[in-house]
Amino acid sequence: MGLVGAGFVGPHHIDAVRRLGFVDVVAVAGSSEESALGKAAALGVRKGYGSYQALLDDPDVQVVHNATPNHLHYEVTSAALARGKHVVSDKPLAMTSAQAKRLVNEAQRAGVVAAVTFNYRGNPLVQEARVAVARGDIGAPHFLHGHYLQDWLLRETDYSWRLDPEKGGASSALGDIGSHWCDLAQHVTGLKITHVLGDIATVVQKRKKPSGSPEAFQAGTGDGELVDIRVEDLASVLVRFENGVRGCFSVGQVCGGHKNDLVLEVCGARASLRWRQEDQNELWIGHRDRANEVLQKDPSLLDERVRGYAHLPGGHQEAWADAFCNVMREIYTCNAAGQPYPALSPMVATFEDGFRANRIVDAILESAADGGAWTRV
Ligand SMILES: NC(=O)c1ccc[n+]([C@@H]2O[C@H](COP(=O)([O-])OP(=O)(O)OC[C@H]3O[C@@H](n4cnc5c(N)ncnc54)[C@H](O)[C@@H]3O)[C@@H](O)[C@H]2O)c1
Repeated sequence: MGLVGAGFVGPHHIDAVRRLGFVDVVAVAGSSEESALGKAAALGVRKGYGSYQALLDDPDVQVVHNATPNHLHYEVTSAALARGKHVVSDKPLAMTSAQAKRLVNEAQRAGVVAAVTFNYRGNPLVQEARVAVARGDIGAPHFLHGHYLQDWLLRETDYSWRLDPEKGGASSALGDIGSHWCDLAQHVTGLKITHVLGDIATVVQKRKKPSGSPEAFQAGTGDGELVDIRVEDLASVLVRFENGVRGCFSVGQVCGGHKNDLVLEVCGARASLRWRQEDQNELWIGHRDRANEVLQKDPSLLDERVRGYAHLPGGHQEAWADAFCNVMREIYTCNAAGQPYPALSPMVATFEDGFRANRIVDAILESAADGGAWTRV
């Protein structure tokens, strides 16, 4: 495995694949040789390269993990595919839908394993919810709702490359975290989002842009020039899924007290299910004619198809990094099985799923620009 971009999330890719026990972490590529060597030393990785091209030239690197800022996703992933390397791209797959579509085609031509890290799919209780919906436990879903709220961009002194359209893309909060909500809703129910109606806002319209590049979730220091912000930090979206199923969600990174507050609730003909990332060892099950339940993450209580994703007994909390590792295990198990590669586990988001996520965000932006018109994905 070789990692390009060892900022906030990159080291979690390394941590996750190391825990599999059969993956050799060969190299890290950074924005300069100095930074790459520093990151390699800090992460205990043998080689540090000052460019991603040098990492791609290394014959020992068979799987490339792309954890660079969004504006580099297309060029790094495309170059890796052209070398016949497997790719694990962090989300979004690309900065634009057109680029994402090209990557879908390039991956197909390359015939390699190509995955996107929509990592919340890897949580055992998310998988339990998915099985429960498919089994008909809650009846046919008719309403999906929830939110993904954070507070790390609340102040004008908070800054991230995500707020610069040249580096993050035309959308900020929707592309960054709204894409996770949409992917999760579609994954849990198997229903695709077909239409959206979006209302977007830029709450903090001017920010202090520091001279360095702060990592995600780091509070700003207040130095730097005041710049205009053109992308959204808050959005509310009405959603239509296939089969006439309705939904709505809000995203925002300016909501005090919400750290990584991803919530999905599915209401069906008989019952409801709710999963909240910040209480991720619990699945709420809502009934009309009897007391509501809270299913604790406990392998002995989970469906046998899901049990293997919980690695500790009940009462032993599992978290974000464990779910991330579950996704990596599915990707690398497929990869390790040899050519031709078996189909990826449904838990793993494909490049097609990544392209769909780009299209949904585009449709929400189009809808908002039209003053809140229903827009087809
Ligand atoms: N799946 C998730 O839950 C999740 C969480 C966080 C971030 N992400 C995604 O991961 C990506 C990275 O986000 P982050 O928060 O880690 O950002 P970050 O800014 O903390 O890290 C990006 C890293 O890439 C490096 N980099 C910049 N240019 C480079 C180049 N030319 N070659 C090699 N490295 C280069 C930077 O120096 C930095 O270390 C984004 O696309 C983001 O959407 C996903």
